[in-house]
Amino acid sequence: MGRGMRKPVVAANWKMNGSLGLCEHFVANLARPDYADVWIFPTALHLGALAESFRDSDISVGVQNVWCEVEGAFTGEISASMVAAAGGQLALVGHSERRSLFGDSDAVVARKFKKITEAGLIPVLCVGETLEERESGLAFEAVQRQLNAVEEAWDNPAYSHVAIAYEPVWAIGTGEAATPDIAQAMQALIRNHVDQNSSGDSQAVRILYGGSVKGVGAAELIAQEDIDGFLVGGASLDVNEFNQICEAVKS
Ligand code: 13P
Repeated sequence: MGRGMRKPVVAANWKMNGSLGLCEHFVANLARPDYADVWIFPTALHLGALAESFRDSDISVGVQNVWCEVEGAFTGEISASMVAAAGGQLALVGHSERRSLFGDSDAVVARKFKKITEAGLIPVLCVGETLEERESGLAFEAVQRQLNAVEEAWDNPAYSHVAIAYEPVWAIGTGEAATPDIAQAMQALIRNHVDQNSSGDSQAVRILYGGSVKGVGAAELIAQEDIDGFLVGGASLDVNEFNQICEAVKS
């Protein structure tokens, strides 16, 4: 089966960038394609403003991280239910920067994932291998370990309301995206893993590619059967570049 049933997604991960000015610029200039879902992940500080501006549109907004409890004495953190109450619809979880810089272990990612689903948000589960893992032939093992950890904490793995973002660590912020062949090969393995480990959702789950995605090259990536869209970092801060990526997913 091809990608026919899966609507493409173009998602912007602004990381620790942006301002109210950038939010306004996006609201005014963002393309609003009907052939793709557009998701924006600003900082938590800017979520409310963007959610309000896009309230009656098809654009969805989400956060880049949550803590794995609902409320309490967790200074500096926010919960998935607070994000939902503020108009957010999605949350990234397991981004490689969270894993490497902030110590989010597989176990913590699994707990966060659970809270995100319980709050009614769509989790975008980020997975990906390091260069070292790829060079030692352990790329899929690493990704599979990340998927298994989440599935173990999940009562009934059902991926229909989940997106997965394959983001090889070596391609993030390097200017060197994975080749279409490399991304497709891993994303087919991920879909196969979902097929084996969940209740029949493998054709529905959207698997995005992330890592140095730009307007140039996006069409070759999206042409691959198991690449259903993109999670864009640096290039997502430039609305024209982001619009070009949206244009590229029009098939
Ligand atoms: P870049 O597009 O800047 O490589 O970042 C990718 C990413 O980490 C998206 O989550």
